Amino acid sequence: MSEHLEISAGSKREKYEALLPQIEAVVAAESDPIANMANVASMLHETFGFWWTGFYRVLDDMLVLGPFQGPMACTRIRKGRGVCGTAWQTNQTQVVPDVDQFPGHIACSSASRSEIVVPLHNASGEVTGVLDIDSAELNTFDETDRIYLEQVANLFH
Ligand code: SME
Repeated sequence: MSEHLEISAGSKREKYEALLPQIEAVVAAESDPIANMANVASMLHETFGFWWTGFYRVLDDMLVLGPFQGPMACTRIRKGRGVCGTAWQTNQTQVVPDVDQFPGHIACSSASRSEIVVPLHNASGEVTGVLDIDSAELNTFDETDRIYLEQVANLFH
């Protein structure tokens, strides 16, 4: 069992290790954040086969839906609401192994079972948006995802 887990963790890490330089190159080549969010959502989504992969941006003191891959989603989320609004309010990555156990989780899709939300920051450290990824399976996200996805989020300074 533990051997199996190590192999799974390794292959996830290997995927991120291969993908991160490609994401860095794509973001370095284009200055528009919306264009970059669109390509980054696609690259993560295609590589891992997530259920939903996308960005919300802070606009007029709300999180507003940005570029994404997957089924249509809620367009506006208030600070402190759901997993996304909690990541914004606390300025901390939220790893949710089972969305049904997260008080106030916003079910944009009933198929979503686990989720990770990573805040994006500007140069002053204020939250400017979030990277939100949903899985159709429980327990998809762990410390490996957090570490690499925070590196992805840091490209949007
Ligand atoms: N589940 C999120 C809402 C966004 S959708 O997952 C795309 C939340 O609770 O904030």
